Amino acid sequence: MTAPLVLGIESSCDETGVGLVRGHDLLADAIASSVDEHARFGGVVPEVASRAHLEAMVPAVRRALDVAGVGLGQVDAIAVTAGPGLAGALLVGVCAAKAYALALGKPLYGVNHLAAHIAVDQLEHGPLPAPAIALLVSGGHSSLLLVRRLTGDITPLGATIDDAAGEAYDKVARLLGLPFPGGPPIDAAARTGDAGSVKFPRSKYRDGTADFSFSGLKTAVARWVEAREAAGLAVPVADVAASFQEAVADVLTRKAVDACLAQGVDHLVISGGVAANSRLRALAAQRCEAAGIRLRVPRPGLCTDNGAMVAALGSDLVAAGAEPSGADFAADSGLPVTQVLAA
Ligand code: KG4
Ligand code: ZN
Repeated sequence: MTAPLVLGIESSCDETGVGLVRGHDLLADAIASSVDEHARFGGVVPEVASRAHLEAMVPAVRRALDVAGVGLGQVDAIAVTAGPGLAGALLVGVCAAKAYALALGKPLYGVNHLAAHIAVDQLEHGPLPAPAIALLVSGGHSSLLLVRRLTGDITPLGATIDDAAGEAYDKVARLLGLPFPGGPPIDAAARTGDAGSVKFPRSKYRDGTADFSFSGLKTAVARWVEAREAAGLAVPVADVAASFQEAVADVLTRKAVDACLAQGVDHLVISGGVAANSRLRALAAQRCEAAGIRLRVPRPGLCTDNGAMVAALGSDLVAAGAEPSGADFAADSGLPVTQVLAA
């Protein structure tokens, strides 16, 4: 028997994503980004993002169906990001998903964006072994999670107490005169820089816990750049980018490996936009191998926001026999990671 065809809709931030998944097979992943419209503001402007989702949604659904070579009538279930994210942006995806579900008479699942970031790895590497530790690093979150069951048993072990990892990238990029979002340009600049040239502090917030802090590191970069400029010296962007990136990757991978060892779990999955980072991926691979931990990281295109991740989690929920969310659930900008399915 073939697995149900699940349509996934993502609109929590600036990416309008529509994915089609059958089981763990990825059939289509259509994305429209409004990132260029936000770049000059140095951050995502919620109203602009919402309007862009509204314009991009139906064309993105059509594109995904075309790529997969299926008709809307063949879709068996619909999943949509219910939260967390920007309220107005979420609302566009949730309303669209409700309209499709109602028109097609198909079950609707309002799902958690963070759990979806983890679920997407299965499209590339197959079912996630349980238990696993997940390091979720995005523009809004840096979390270590114990995942016993992706469809309903996720325990937070630690989180950032201030800036998220991606937020730190975005703010440091701004300090260095690099464009928004800051992750990709810092990653690129760092390739030609010396990661050992500036010794930025390792933000070992409360050593021994799984919590993170990145605002001190961001401030250290700001002070370093200011001191350099005050002295009339040019800022070596590539060296600063590489040194900053090393500090972030060092702390993230160390805490993730420590969490695996403390919990006695030998599978680590890293996901979210920052998981696209080349140095984080390389250092994680190196440290996991040394610690005997099996590492799973989705390809970069699946780490950043997309619709396939929502469809992947929806597919798991359908397979697990989860009760659909119904038509009454609301978008929830603060949906906690412990709540995989919106009620
Ligand atoms: O998961 P995501 O697409 O959206 C959220 O849910 O927040 O993550 C976006 C974040 C941004 O802060 C962006 O700068 C960062 O991921 N990012 C990266 C890279 N690509 C995207 N950070 C470091 N290195 C990258 N290559
Ligand atoms: Zn995300």
